[in-house]
Order: sequence, then structure tokens, then C-alpha cells
Amino acid sequence: MLLETTENKKNGPIAVFDSGVGGISVLRALLCEMPNENYWYFGDSANAPYGTKYLEEVKKLTVSHVGRFLDEGAKAVVVACNTATSAAVRYLRQKYPNVPIIGIEPALKPAVLSKDYPNVVVMATPMTLREQKFHNLMDRYMGMAHIIPLPCAGLMEYIEQGEIHSAELELFLERLFEPFEKQKLDAVVLGCTHYPFIARELKKVLGENVRLFEGGPGTARETKRRLLNAGLLCDGKTKGTVRFDNSEQSDEKKSLCEKLLNLPV
Ligand code: DGL
Repeated sequence: MLLETTENKKNGPIAVFDSGVGGISVLRALLCEMPNENYWYFGDSANAPYGTKYLEEVKKLTVSHVGRFLDEGAKAVVVACNTATSAAVRYLRQKYPNVPIIGIEPALKPAVLSKDYPNVVVMATPMTLREQKFHNLMDRYMGMAHIIPLPCAGLMEYIEQGEIHSAELELFLERLFEPFEKQKLDAVVLGCTHYPFIARELKKVLGENVRLFEGGPGTARETKRRLLNAGLLCDGKTKGTVRFDNSEQSDEKKSLCEKLLNLPV
């Protein structure tokens, strides 16, 4: 009986959650790493953006969504949002010690290690950069690179509206990077899951030599490790399913999610 329950659980979905469509960049990496799993992608677009809200509000929203995923049979949760991770992941792990709950953080380590003492800009939401979790991460690599946090309020809105190439977006990025000597930048960390979708625009503004780093692939590998350790890796031999769900109940959000998922990397 117990065995049967665990077997059923293995085929349950992995809930992947973000404040909107950004977590699709993490879902993409998860599908690459574990194509046979079933995924339930939930974007809270009705409450986006999270990054300019108060911590308590984001924590409350995140905890309530995660509670619903687990009530409805998710076997694990990937918080595919840097902002929600810094606001709620520690609390969630205490509340559900037996559930694999995987968060995401800015991919600072590979950026710092990409060169000897590189100049690294970390693009993220104001909340991610303000929280202790990021300060701890930055302290770890402080002596190894020149690290510059760059809060990007207003940027996720472009991606959320499906605007991933446009003259306005290019101008927004030009202004954001105005204070920097662009040719001196070595690496840019995409510390918000929405940003990988504007990598092409960023390269246009920053030049081809700047290396971009995202957290999705590392998070996908960590998710696989955690599922394996918990005996929860799905044993299906065929391609799994992906279900899209959004607090903004519109067909446009669903088709934007599908479009972003199918973009060439
Ligand atoms: N995608 C979210 C992250 O990774 C943030 C976007 C927002 O501000 O809601 O931080």
C-alpha cells in the first residue's frame, strides 16, 4: 500500500512557479534535464511584478500558491523566481520538510569564475538585491570579482507583455547601462527568470563579448538531484506533459508561455 502510494507520487507533476511568464526559462531547462517528467507551470501574472512589492506580500502569495500545488498533488515545487525564492523558500522548507522545494538564485558563481577578477553586473529585481540571501551570496565571491548589483525595476513588464525585441526595450536597456563603460564589462548575471528571454537585445546593447549567465540550468540539475535522493524521479519512458496555468485567466498568457517555451535558445 505504502509502495503503491510512492509509485503514484512519482508520476505526479512538478509544480514550477513564477510571478509570471519568466519561469518558463527554468521550465525550458527542466525539460532538457528531465523530459519524461510531468510539469504544472503556474504564473501569477495577475499579481506581477513581485520584485517591487514588500517582502511580506510576496511571501504570503508564494506560500499560498505552494500550499495549493501540494494540496492538488504536486510531488515537488520549483520556485522559478529569484524574488519569491528570497522571500519564502526558507520558510517553505521548514513548513514542508518532506517535500523537495527547489529555489533559484542569481548564477553569480560561474560568472565570477569565468575570468580572473572579472567585472560582473548582476541584473535582478530590487527585492532580490535587497534581501539577505543575495548579500550572503555576494559576500562569498567579493574578493574574486568586481560585483555590481543592478536593480531593474520596470524591465520584467516588457517580457510579461511578450515584448522581447523592440526599439523601446533597446532604449530601456541603453539607459539602464548608461552609467557603465560597457567595453569593460565581462559578465552579466541574469538574476531574474524573465531576463533570459531578452538575451539577444542585451547582446545588442552590450556587445557580443559580454558573457551572460542564467540560473535555470543549475536549478534544473539541482531539481533532478533532489528528486533522485527522494526516490521521486518519474519512471515514465515517454515524454511527459506540460500544463500551463495562470492567475490571469487569459488565452494570451497561455499562448505567450507556449511561444517563450519554443523559442530557440
Ligand atoms: N521572475 C522574477 C524573478 O526571477 C521576478 C519578476 C517580478 O518582479 O515579478 O525574480
